[in-house]
Amino acid sequence: MSDLIISASILSADFTKLGDQLHLCEESKVDWIHIDVMDGHFVPNITMGPFIVEHCKKVTNLPLDVHLMIEKPDNFVDAFIDAGASYVCVHLEGNPLIQRTLDHIRSRGSHPGIALTPATPAGMLETILPDVDFVLVMSVNPGFSGQSFLNCTVDKIQQIKQMIDERSLSVSIQVDGGINATTLPIVYQAGARIAVAATAIFGYPEGISAGVTALRNSIN
Ligand code: DX5
Ligand code: ZN
Repeated sequence: MSDLIISASILSADFTKLGDQLHLCEESKVDWIHIDVMDGHFVPNITMGPFIVEHCKKVTNLPLDVHLMIEKPDNFVDAFIDAGASYVCVHLEGNPLIQRTLDHIRSRGSHPGIALTPATPAGMLETILPDVDFVLVMSVNPGFSGQSFLNCTVDKIQQIKQMIDERSLSVSIQVDGGINATTLPIVYQAGARIAVAATAIFGYPEGISAGVTALRNSIN
């Protein structure tokens, strides 16, 4: 049994049968459900709001892991927590008062995470690291599923892992973008323990369960 958490991103799910797909994720021993929220401003795509989180909550007991790729996240954090988000991740970029946002997420009983786009260096986490439960290292530029993994991410994961260990913090590293059976062993080795995958699960040719198995087997 490994210590890897797999968070299935429904961005690549078949929304005509989302409930069935979430049940298949549960049967396939997915750990969390990742919900990518995009506003058409922070990233060039528009996806889901609190309404989808609320409906996912009705059909699955898996923790809901909400990744906010939006401007002014403070305006929406409460709505996502009220809808059932267990994990709420906000981007460092464009949020100078992010510490207040993270504290608020924790005060509402959810786990706060901070996300970094590929261009943001690990050093930007220097002061904020003790305030989060996890760091989301984006391994593609956010906006779409199905993009190729960016190798520059690997060094950054190692640097963040070192920062966490030097400070003896209890912070997990999540990686998101282009994760499949080839890239997962690399980021796992670098220190990531939460893997987000959309295409490698919902787009896996042999189905969701086989996709999850391929991911798990890749690190054994
Ligand atoms: C991208 C999203 C990712 C995306 C991952 O902006 O944050 O969660 O769904 O998709 P794959 O696994 O296909 O790269
Ligand atoms: Zn995501």
